[in-house]
Amino acid sequence: VKKLIIDCDPGIDDSMAILAAFNSPKEVEVIGLTTIFGNVQTATATGNALVLRELAGRPQVPVAQGAATPLSGVAKARIADFVHGSDGFGNTNHPAAAGKAEEATAAQFIVDAVRAHPSEVTVLALGPLTNLALALQLDSTLAGNLAELVILGGAFFVNGNVNPAAEANIFGDPDAAEYVFQQPVRMRVVGLDVTHTCTFTGGQLAAMRSRGRFGSFLASITRFYLDYHRESYGMDAVYVHDPTALAAVLDPSLFTWQQGAVCVVTEGVARGLTVMDAGTKSWNGPNAWMTRPSVAVAVGVQAQALTSLILDR
Ligand code: BDR
Ligand code: CA
Repeated sequence: VKKLIIDCDPGIDDSMAILAAFNSPKEVEVIGLTTIFGNVQTATATGNALVLRELAGRPQVPVAQGAATPLSGVAKARIADFVHGSDGFGNTNHPAAAGKAEEATAAQFIVDAVRAHPSEVTVLALGPLTNLALALQLDSTLAGNLAELVILGGAFFVNGNVNPAAEANIFGDPDAAEYVFQQPVRMRVVGLDVTHTCTFTGGQLAAMRSRGRFGSFLASITRFYLDYHRESYGMDAVYVHDPTALAAVLDPSLFTWQQGAVCVVTEGVARGLTVMDAGTKSWNGPNAWMTRPSVAVAVGVQAQALTSLILDR
């Protein structure tokens, strides 16, 4: 059983992934939820993480609040409330949870958890990578002692979803992502290349209503998210980005992985673009990519097996 910290911005697909993780005790033990801006501001993400742990009947699982702004400091966080509702739960006015977040910041919480359990902790990053960058800067031994970092982010051989270049989580803090991809951490990256083939239909979402506490909660919060997909993509289905990345923790064999160095563009119109070394090796002499660590990028997925696993959980 993998010890799992979920760094998240709940958020509707984050909520799906978090509840599915709580419901996967054979594969993962959720030892903490850390929060970040993205779909909502960080403080709202923290409130929602507290609601989700309570809903899951796991109020003892720590929640630690993360950074409120990207590494660059000056930039204001970009918030995707038009996708997730201003409350991150599809404007459902869900009551706040009773509990409170930890004193420690998200970055410190990650550092402490990995120090307590070296080589045993997997981090699943479902939002911008600011907290991960800060944690790796706080403790130089963290990179070597993380069991694995699984990232939902990037668009490698397809267009982004914020603009043609960038996927939302990487766009949220490109500097943090560029830093993280240069660290010697065992990493798997799940981007739009595969998440854009993993969907729940409107019918599947409606049928969730009668499938217990998790199902009825998710059926209600996904209505807003489904409307967004109908309007923006013209489809009667939603992308299940974050649950797809959880599936990479639960069962990596559902994916085809390609190894290579990754770089994030941090300037200009392509800010947030993720580029990977696809291994053609037809370069004219040495280049700066050669010293970067190799990471595993998802380039294929068994979408049907994956979505039925997630629906089940
Ligand atoms: C990612 O951005 C957020 O809107 C989702 O929660 C997901 O993590 C998809 O680009
Ligand atoms: Ca997310």
